[in-house]
Amino acid sequence: MRRIDRETVQKILDTADIVEVVSDFVHLKRRGANYIGLCPFHNERTPSFSVSKSKGICKCFSCGKGGSPVNFIMELEQMSYNEALRYLAKKYHIEIQEHEMSEQEREEISTRESMLSVNEFAMRHFEHLLTDTDDGRDIGLSYFRERGISDAMIKRFHLGYSLDKRDDLFQTAINKGFSEKYLLDTGLCYRTERGTMQDRFRGRVIYPVFTVSGKVIAFGGRTLRKDKEVAKYVNSPESSVYKKSNELYGLYQAKQAIVKKDKCILVEGYMDVISMHQSGVENVVASSGTSLTEGQIRLIHRFTENVTVIYDSDPAGIKASLRGIDLLLAEGLNVKVMLLPEGDDPDSFAQSHTSSEVEAYLSENEQDFIAFKTHILTDGLGNDPVARSKAIQNIVRSISVIPDQITRTVYIAECSRVMGISEKVLTLQVAKYITERQERDANDAMRRRNRMEAGLPPEAAPIDSHEPPVDIADPQTPSVSQVVDNNDSIRRRKRMEYLAPYERELVRYAVRYGASYLCDVATDDQGNVREMSVVEYLRQELDVDDITMYNPAYAEALDLAYDITMSPTFGADMQAHRQVEETKRSNAIAEGIEEIRRTTDDFQSIERKETELHAREDAVYAAALDDFREHYVSRALLSCDRDNVRRLATDMISSRHQLSKIHTKYSHIQTERDRLAELVPLAVYNLKCALVECDIIDVNSEIKEAYSTHSDDLDLIRKLMIRVAELNSLKKELAKYLGERILSPRIRR
Ligand code: CTP
Ligand code: MN
Repeated sequence: MRRIDRETVQKILDTADIVEVVSDFVHLKRRGANYIGLCPFHNERTPSFSVSKSKGICKCFSCGKGGSPVNFIMELEQMSYNEALRYLAKKYHIEIQEHEMSEQEREEISTRESMLSVNEFAMRHFEHLLTDTDDGRDIGLSYFRERGISDAMIKRFHLGYSLDKRDDLFQTAINKGFSEKYLLDTGLCYRTERGTMQDRFRGRVIYPVFTVSGKVIAFGGRTLRKDKEVAKYVNSPESSVYKKSNELYGLYQAKQAIVKKDKCILVEGYMDVISMHQSGVENVVASSGTSLTEGQIRLIHRFTENVTVIYDSDPAGIKASLRGIDLLLAEGLNVKVMLLPEGDDPDSFAQSHTSSEVEAYLSENEQDFIAFKTHILTDGLGNDPVARSKAIQNIVRSISVIPDQITRTVYIAECSRVMGISEKVLTLQVAKYITERQERDANDAMRRRNRMEAGLPPEAAPIDSHEPPVDIADPQTPSVSQVVDNNDSIRRRKRMEYLAPYERELVRYAVRYGASYLCDVATDDQGNVREMSVVEYLRQELDVDDITMYNPAYAEALDLAYDITMSPTFGADMQAHRQVEETKRSNAIAEGIEEIRRTTDDFQSIERKETELHAREDAVYAAALDDFREHYVSRALLSCDRDNVRRLATDMISSRHQLSKIHTKYSHIQTERDRLAELVPLAVYNLKCALVECDIIDVNSEIKEAYSTHSDDLDLIRKLMIRVAELNSLKKELAKYLGERILSPRIRR
């Protein structure tokens, strides 16, 4: 694997100017300190997309998208982190230095990257086997040929073949230095009961599954055997890189066409997608045999509002999947439906028609869902009033899930026309369904809350009945401890929710002001002091009480902020910056003095003006260093290669409620930064209090439980009550401690 050198990455990040980068896509106008324009991520008439040159970020205050130059490009062009870096390098004519990764670097990259890289490797290996080996050509390639798949499509979808050997992939990967752990984690291999390693996809043709940005996260393997003994498809198990319900097969290859045509066609299988592509219809994705999920629908919604679902004309299958239509409607999408001629699926249809025939059929045979449902639900029933009434109710129910009222009204009119029922009646019925659903949702929410407060696990989610059967022993049965820990995990989740706002506030200070000066601390008893930064203080305060954040994203951000500030790089950067600013200051003073001497002639005025000059330049110098420190952590986090960290940092930095810089000249208007010495300890105190509060809640519910189950065990109850009293007094002590910890205001040297 090759990696862009750190220096190059830094150079790119340092060079890329957010205003210039965004200007390539958005027409920006200056507004005060910022620039503003129409958001490229959603449709709008009045600009809410704001770009801050000084912070180096952009953000849409309407849809929330944005970030650093890298984020912006990633999001807008649907590129990976590395692709975005390469894009920027090209824009700024920066030569990319890269290197083969060393042993150590390989260890350092996260689990996710390791899993992705072993998947990438496996994909290449399967592709190689398909075209460059006898078995691959005789078995795999000839199968694709038989099904009419062109070489271009094989390349485009990176189709492959896995040899019918027990551990070909395993051996090859291990020899290349990939570790067994990731082969297991990705599900490419599994361990048999006898302890040997086996390839999951052996003897199958391979369909890799990509994310929107083109990372391989899973595989589908189709058997070539005709018998019914083995499952037709074996798919990668879910893993930390693959959440089936959030992915759509083919989206990576289809996304540009979806945007261009402003429409997404939804089919069922791998082959359907590929054959449609081959016939020139490229805006096609598949839900891969499972029923559509909300996550998948939201994914579509990122690219278009218009969806056409293609069904093959098997009435039983259609009725089963009508639910998908309601889900799509509920997400605010415009849904069209299309039936293929009897006996065809998208694959066979595309294979047996020319591409212009396919296009023509598509544009002529789309129906809106009302016409479609009317057709499906009343077909062959003549004028049977019961069937008609059922169909109407079904349609009205669908209309009632549409979030937008105007759209509902349009469909009510359409339904009225098709079914010959007055709009008024339909409108009333829609309203009734909406109310019913709202009540049901409220009840569900209450039941969930009650269960949670009673410490019960949440009700199990309905099991997806379309789940394909598995033909091999699944090595991952849940462990006993996972089941037993359920109660604990609920407690954890409750805590996490309760603590989130406190943790967030604290992490916000670390992200926003991590390297900023907070206070002086004594280094010895001779009165020597050193400066302590915000994040250093936070870390120390948390460590004293052994606190880790419940929210892993916050914990990660805090750790990173700490590492950044404590690394020698920070010291060196700071030193270099100080030198630059010192030079600036002495130049400015020299110039100022010359000017004063040239324009002033009485000695006293000269002296006064020079003193003022020094004071002014000292303040400028200090402010420049403060600025540098202030932005140090956030700049680093915004360019960090972990998606969640970058997103978090963007959110935290782009808060709208900051006083603008100009005011700092007049000291009577205080910024958040001026008040850090008071605000940061307060945030720590608030979090600690909240933690104690959680303990109190827990012990109180233990007391309740003790009363109801062992009400004779007074000893236990007394112990618990003492514990509550202790916790309460701890809370008081914390307040006192805070009083003592108000940090002394900064003394400028
Ligand atoms: N599927 C699966 N496991 C199965 C059967 C189906 O995961 N045992 C998924 C696959 O994603 C498949 C889709 O459901 O693409 C549709 O299934 P099906 O129509 O049976 O397969 P096709 O894709 O049409 O495959 P082929 O045309 O090669 O038979
Ligand atoms: Mn098929």
